[in-house]
Amino acid sequence: MSKLIIEGRRKLSGKIEVQGAKNSALPILAATLLTGDSSVIHNCPDLSDVDSTLDILRYVGCYVKQDGDTVFVDSKCADKSDIPDELMRAMRSSIIFLGPLIARFGSARLTYPGGCELGPRPIDLHLMALRLLGVEITEQHGVIECRAPQGLHGAKISLSFPSVGATENIMLAACVAEGTTIITNAAREPEICDLADCLNSFGARISGAGEGTVIIDGAERLSGSMHTIIPDRIAAASYMAAAAATGGRVLIDRIVPSHLNSVIPIFEESGCTVKQKGNSILIDAPNRLHAVNFIRTMPFPGFPTDAQPPIMAMLTTAKGTGIIVENIFENRYKHVCGLERMGAKIHLEGKVAVVEGVPELYGARVAAPDLRGGAALVVAGLCANGRTEINGINFIDRGYENIELKLSEVGASIKRL
Ligand code: UD1
Repeated sequence: MSKLIIEGRRKLSGKIEVQGAKNSALPILAATLLTGDSSVIHNCPDLSDVDSTLDILRYVGCYVKQDGDTVFVDSKCADKSDIPDELMRAMRSSIIFLGPLIARFGSARLTYPGGCELGPRPIDLHLMALRLLGVEITEQHGVIECRAPQGLHGAKISLSFPSVGATENIMLAACVAEGTTIITNAAREPEICDLADCLNSFGARISGAGEGTVIIDGAERLSGSMHTIIPDRIAAASYMAAAAATGGRVLIDRIVPSHLNSVIPIFEESGCTVKQKGNSILIDAPNRLHAVNFIRTMPFPGFPTDAQPPIMAMLTTAKGTGIIVENIFENRYKHVCGLERMGAKIHLEGKVAVVEGVPELYGARVAAPDLRGGAALVVAGLCANGRTEINGINFIDRGYENIELKLSEVGASIKRL
């Protein structure tokens, strides 16, 4: 098992180019199944979750070729509508194939993606919405069987929570359904807009993505096209946290700064200067950060839950005490244990974390508990005194492309063993 070894307390300085968005890449690659044609996807990040998505596409019969960050998918010969358990379990977000499989084959058979490191991750909203679109669903022994004997038809779907995955699955299924689908209380994340842009380039007719109401006029068929994935705003926020935690000065490049509108004020409140220029942000941090009063994770455009762990790590050595409220996932404080091992003072009470800044962290042997929790430990290791060993980095590889290379290039001492 590989691990990361970090010698901390080096100020980061230089430029980090941010990868394409993982959370866009997965639904967009699944969308290529709808076309029965060839599609070219650019700026696709090199991540294990992307590999798992491509494994599923290959399993169902697609031809897949990778050339750098470009992925070519030909779904003409796809002929399987099931996903075996081991492929479902490789990646929690494999549920995103449900919509495309039903839309393409009129049926789908897959297993529950399983329990999750972030706590229970129900898919009731996905299934409720698909039923409204005409899908008959049975669930037995962890297997989900879906059939649409009369085909898919448009529906009015109101989500009780703006779930990202459910909004995506509805868009993926409804874009080739008969008639119009209207989603109210839809998720508004930039990755929803990216998926809509990609589907529209395939010939779908989706409007309102990025707003609370998304309207999908079913198209008879889609055809292949070319799409470029948006930059990964969570990777960007994580690298900003790394720069800030080390008192560094780093240009975060190849991003969409407006996607970070809820994150930038947190850095400013902590004492950093943040300058936006074109598709980059220059973050310049003081020697010691100030505590940030309140951070509440919310659906977009609120503060993203995925950025909470690395930003919490950055605040462990800030001057003063701050409060974080995690409103999206029940179990998203697993990184706290590792941070405490490194000397952080954090008090947890349900969804509230009180972070009492300490003058410094010290290196320790820790294990990544999940993807963003792993990124939190990297941020902590970069500012800690001494050597940090992070195990379980397969979690980190799910979402950060070449993390040790990108951080080494800006002066960190970090290597993979
Ligand atoms: C996506 C992101 C993930 C991010 C999350 C919230 C991908 C691959 N993953 O996950 O990185 O942290 O959005 O921004 O894009 N829920 C239900 N029933 C459902 C679906 C969701 O109750 O059927 C609840 C979940 O338990 C959770 C909340 O809704 O509490 C948000 O989940 P959701 O927005 O669906 O997240 P994902 O799409 O799984």
